[in-house]
Amino acid sequence: MHKEVTHPIIQHKLTILRNERTKHKEFREIVSEITMLLTYEALKHVGLREVEINTPVAPTVGYEVSHDIVVVPVLRAGVGMLNSVCEIMPTARTGFIGLYRDHDTKMPVEYYSKLPESSDDALVLLVDPMLATGGSTSAAIDMIKRAGFEQIVVLSIVAAPDGIEVVEAAHSDVNIYCAAIDECLNDDKYIVPGLGDAGDRLFGTI
Ligand code: PRP
Ligand code: URA
Repeated sequence: MHKEVTHPIIQHKLTILRNERTKHKEFREIVSEITMLLTYEALKHVGLREVEINTPVAPTVGYEVSHDIVVVPVLRAGVGMLNSVCEIMPTARTGFIGLYRDHDTKMPVEYYSKLPESSDDALVLLVDPMLATGGSTSAAIDMIKRAGFEQIVVLSIVAAPDGIEVVEAAHSDVNIYCAAIDECLNDDKYIVPGLGDAGDRLFGTI
């Protein structure tokens, strides 16, 4: 399943992200804001368990998230989405995956992996702002599954239709939430219209 979260506020913020005039400070802030909105949507049906508590007035039954939430940003650009997830789920554990797209083949190359121990109730939020060919997201999911995790949700900001197809063909059990599904990929496998190189724009390396 994939879902394009087309809330008007997301569309407003995404337009600022897409604008080539937006500099890295504002770009980073808006990536965080959009991630927060995507996280709310992705966790809409998260499991809850009942807990008995006392308010200052009376005993009552409340709820707490029953999953062990694990957030995994794909380096570099996924790091721009990490803090927002942690703000919403401060007890989340964090893992890191390092992948870059080979300049010529556009295939993902793995250079780093540090994932927490898996647990039965773990729910992994894999965060990367760009899902272009889908190669990096598929490779990251492979790595997370190899580490023993079973429940995985992908949060991306801009996705290409071809990339979504690739990820869903390889991992039909993984749900994808994104802020926009764009038109296509260009010859350099960049998303069109997209927002350019997310890592460079986040970290001011252009
Ligand atoms: C970008 C992006 C994704 C990947 C998407 O990373 O953050 O990880 O490309 O492309 P794909 O769907 O075609 O695999 P990049 O390789 O540019 O690395 P960086 O974040 O370190 O710049
Ligand atoms: N990676 C990016 O940062 N942007 C794209 O459009 C495609 C891959």
